Amino acid sequence: MSPPFSSDRAPRHLRPQGGPPQHRPAPAGLRVGQRLVVTPAAYDADGFATAQGQRASMVIWGGVAGEPGEVEVRHIGQNRIRSRFIQAAQPAAARRAPPCPRYDACGSCALMHLQPEAQRDVRLGLLAEALRALPGLPLPTTMVQGEDGDENYRHYVKMAVGQSDLGHIRVGAYRRGSHDIVAIPDCVVATPRLREAMATVAHHIIDLDLRPYNPANRTGIMRHVLLRQSRIDGRVLCLLVTGRNHRLLKELATRIMGSASGISGVWAHFNDEAGNGILGWGAEGEGPGFSMLEGAPLITEQLAGERLLLGPGDFFQVNPGVADRLVRDVRDAFADLREYPVVDLYCGVGAFTLPLARAHGYAFGVESLPGAVMHAKEGAEQGHLGAEFFVGEATAQLAAVAERLKGRPPVVVVDPPKKGLEEGVFEQLLALKPARVAYVSCEPTSLARDLARFAAAGWTVSALRAYDMFPQTAHLETLALLEPPERPAPPTSTLRRRVVRKPAG
Ligand SMILES: C[S@@+](CC[C@H](N)C(=O)[O-])C[C@H]1O[C@@H](n2cnc3c(N)ncnc32)[C@H](O)[C@@H]1O
Repeated sequence: MSPPFSSDRAPRHLRPQGGPPQHRPAPAGLRVGQRLVVTPAAYDADGFATAQGQRASMVIWGGVAGEPGEVEVRHIGQNRIRSRFIQAAQPAAARRAPPCPRYDACGSCALMHLQPEAQRDVRLGLLAEALRALPGLPLPTTMVQGEDGDENYRHYVKMAVGQSDLGHIRVGAYRRGSHDIVAIPDCVVATPRLREAMATVAHHIIDLDLRPYNPANRTGIMRHVLLRQSRIDGRVLCLLVTGRNHRLLKELATRIMGSASGISGVWAHFNDEAGNGILGWGAEGEGPGFSMLEGAPLITEQLAGERLLLGPGDFFQVNPGVADRLVRDVRDAFADLREYPVVDLYCGVGAFTLPLARAHGYAFGVESLPGAVMHAKEGAEQGHLGAEFFVGEATAQLAAVAERLKGRPPVVVVDPPKKGLEEGVFEQLLALKPARVAYVSCEPTSLARDLARFAAAGWTVSALRAYDMFPQTAHLETLALLEPPERPAPPTSTLRRRVVRKPAG
C-alpha cells in the first residue's frame, strides 16, 4: 500500500532529511493551505517543531523532531512559515494522542502531543541550547519533578472574557493564534477544583449577561478571571478583572461564593487601559488596586514548612509542589553558609525569604509590588521571623539593602521575571560581595546572558538544576548556584530586626 502522502509533494527546500536533496527555500512557491511533508529537526522556545531552510524557517504546531510528517501551511511570513501537523505515515515513538480535548484549539500546552519523558528531553534540550555559548557548565540531564505529576498540577489559571461572532459571551482561553475565546472546562493541567471553579464563574458571568469590556469605546464590563487554589487547604481566591465598576459585580461575587466550588474570596480589579496587560498599573504608578467583594481576602500556602499569605495580585508559582522542592533545594544549598544573612531579590510574597530567614536568622526581601510585600511582611510576623522588606525596583532598593548590611557579606537569591537582571542590578549585587548566589530563572536565554556576566567577573557555576514546573509546555525553571572567585569571611556581628516604635500620644 502506498503511504497516504509522499515527500514528492513537498517543495524541494522542505523535503525530509535523508530524502531527495534539500534546496534553497522558495517561500514564494508556497501557498496557505498547501500540504507537504517535512521532517523538523528541533524545537523552538515555544515548543513548536522547526525545520530550517536557507532563507526561511518553518514552525510546525504538533510536529515531532526527526519524524517526517504531513503539515498544512497556515501562514507565510517573510522569514517564517507557520504550519500545523496533519499526520505521519510512521508516527515517532515520542508521539502520543494529547490527553486534552482542547489541546489544539487552546494551544497553551505545546508539547502535550509528546510522551512525558520525551517532553522533558525537549525542555532540557532547550535549556542546553540556550546555554550553549557557555563552556563547561554542569548541564542537568534530568528534571526535578513534583508529587502532583504532569496533569492536574496548575494551581493558578487565567480566563479571558470575550464574545462569539454571534455575540454570545465566551469565558476561557484565547484560541491558539487568535483573540477568539475557547471554553476550557476540561483543562487537564488545572487541578480538579480549579476546573470546577472555572465552570462556576463562567456560568454566572454568562447568566448575568456581564459582557466583555471593549477599551476602544468603553462598553461592556468583564475582561479576565484569575483563580488561584491553595495546595495546603484547597481554598480558591478569585479575582474579577473588569474595565469598569458595575452594580452586578457584587451579585456575581455573591453567586460565586454561594456555589460549592471551594472559592473562599472574590476580589475585583479595574483595568480600563488598552492593550493585553491583565492588571492595570494604577494612577500613580503605585501598583494595581483591588477591591474586596466577598469572603476572605487571602489564601495561605506553605513552602519548605513556612506559611505564606497570598493576595489576589501577587506572583506565586503555578506549581506549588515543584516550588516546594525548589525552595528546599535553595535552602539546603546554603547549608554551609548559615552565618551569612540572606538577600532575596524579586521576593514576591517571600517564597524564599521566609524559609531562608528561618534557616539563617535574618533575610532581606526586595519586591516591586506593594501588595506582595505587605503579605510577605505579615507572613514573616506570623512566623516570628527576622525579615525586612524593601518595596520598589531592585535597582533602586539595592542601595538601601547595602546600607542595612553595613558591609556584612550575604548569600543572595535572585528570582527575576523573564527578562532577567535589569541594568544596574548586577553591579550592585556584586558590590554586596555575596558568599554564594542562587539564581532561579524561568527563561533560559536571559539566564544565559546573566551567567555570562557572572563568568566574566570570575564567578563559577557549581550546580545547575532543572525543575519541571510547567509540564506539557516548553518551559522550565532552572536553579544555578554561583560561587565567587573568593569567598568573603562570614560577618562577625548578627543583624537585628528594626523595631519601629509608634510615636507617643
Ligand atoms: C518570578 S517572580 C518571583 C517571586 C518569588 N521569588 C516567588 O518565587 O514567588 C518575580 C517577582 O519580581 C517582581 N519584580 C518584577 N520586576 C521587579 C523589579 N524591577 N524589582 C523588584 N521586583 C520586581 C515581580 O512582582 C514578582 O513578584
